[in-house]
Amino acid sequence: MSTTLSPAPKSANEVDVKHTECFIDGKWVPAASGKTFATLNPATEQEIAQIAEGDAADVDAAAKAARHAFDAGDWPKMDARDRGRLLYKLADRMEQEIHALAALETLDNGKPLNDSLAADLPLAIDAIRYYAGYADKLHGSTIPIRGNYLCYTRREPIGVAGQIIPWNFPLLMLAWKWGPALAAGCTVVMKPAEQTPLTCLRMAQLAKEVGFPDGVINIVPGFGPTAGAACVKHPLIDKIAFTGEHRTAQIITRDSAETLKRLTFELGGKSPNVVFADADMDAAVEGAYIGLFLNQGQCCCAGSRVFVEKSCHDEFVEKLTALTMKRKVGDPFAEDTQQGPQVDKAQFDKIMSYIDKGKGEGAECVTGGDRVGDTGYFIAPTIFDNVQDDMSIATDEIFGPVMSVLTFDDKEDMIRRANNTFYGLAAAVWTRDISNAHDFAARVRAGTIWVNCYDVFDAAAPFGGFKMSGYGRELGEEGLKPYTESKTVTVKL
Ligand code: NAI
Ligand code: MG
Repeated sequence: MSTTLSPAPKSANEVDVKHTECFIDGKWVPAASGKTFATLNPATEQEIAQIAEGDAADVDAAAKAARHAFDAGDWPKMDARDRGRLLYKLADRMEQEIHALAALETLDNGKPLNDSLAADLPLAIDAIRYYAGYADKLHGSTIPIRGNYLCYTRREPIGVAGQIIPWNFPLLMLAWKWGPALAAGCTVVMKPAEQTPLTCLRMAQLAKEVGFPDGVINIVPGFGPTAGAACVKHPLIDKIAFTGEHRTAQIITRDSAETLKRLTFELGGKSPNVVFADADMDAAVEGAYIGLFLNQGQCCCAGSRVFVEKSCHDEFVEKLTALTMKRKVGDPFAEDTQQGPQVDKAQFDKIMSYIDKGKGEGAECVTGGDRVGDTGYFIAPTIFDNVQDDMSIATDEIFGPVMSVLTFDDKEDMIRRANNTFYGLAAAVWTRDISNAHDFAARVRAGTIWVNCYDVFDAAAPFGGFKMSGYGRELGEEGLKPYTESKTVTVKL
């Protein structure tokens, strides 16, 4: 295999869109209906390409291919070490294509190319490699039961995994879902988000080229209520892994009742990021800034409620505002851009409506608050100060570059307020007092707690939500469990 890297595109015009069809049973095919939909460049609002609009008929074909590859094919039965080797090869191939994949992600999603290259791609490659190493390390146990028996468990793949991913980290969410599913020996039907199908389609081709058997990976691009819902309802699909909005997860729960699918959900958040006066103030400012503005604020774990201890509030807000005002918003392909456009008009409109609500509810907009330019879905990084707990900007997931700063002076009260949300995805605390930090970590009800840091992700560290932020965990050893069934075998001796 050659080790030459793909060339680095420097603008949207240089990006090569290679695949626009459904990928079913190892072949590129148009949607059965012949329909297509446009995927747009959010920086220009221009169409990039027409994509096959899969629906129930295409999901049916994909589910049958995945079922056949699972029931009759070699995939779940092959030497687990060889499955791992294919995943390693896929990771190597992604590394060779890193510039092309990063540019494709930036073109379709709008995130700065620097971020795609520095974060999305390395994290995605790491997740595939991490799970490649797990393929041959999944095993059961022997159990001493009463009587003269040999009793043991086997961990077997769950079957066909339906995977529905969002648009905020398209390639990374693919990697978090393909890695454990394929390592465990499952086959996959994936529906990428309608806003960002391009990297997922490219990945299907790379998987084919490195030797994944036909039917193991199938991609049906299309919309949620049609293609997505068809995956959820299909009787040949055993499990749904979903990342997106909690309201969609509620629909999926209802739609999956008939076939009793196994479900894992990674949903939204309104994560508290708490700054005590004894913290390293510059680090806390930087952490609040990254924790919210990363990825145009389109992060499930965004630190969107920043609680600041009263005695350091003024210094904190002053420093944070100064840093935020320097944030460079613009062409995601430009070298110095730190923030690109929001993913689409619907998200742009939703965020602008929350900015209006924040102003209307009496919060103080200390910077931002407006659209940037008149083409593309760009929004100025926005900070609201003096936010009260019951304002909609403090309760609702905005999923954009809008931060709410709240003040506290009593720790007990702050913990109660931090937990006073139906979400529970992540939380962070900034303090030099280790007892305080661990106390916070134990008492805030969220799946991830960061202490003196934010957005630290690793393929080995489980990630997921408490409460309405989801159930099940992705990443780490815990991330494999939802892709396996445990079988108990008892032998009379
Ligand atoms: P969404 O939950 O509707 O979309 C996520 C994925 O689910 C997409 O692939 C979509 O096509 C699919 N989907 C939609 N309806 C479906 C259905 N009935 N059955 C099966 N699949 C379905 O999220 P959307 O509409 O893109 O964004 C709305 C809000 O959701 C955002 O503003 C944000 O607050 C939140 N969100 C949270 C994400 C996270 O990472 N936790 C990611 C994306 C959105
Ligand atoms: Mg939706």
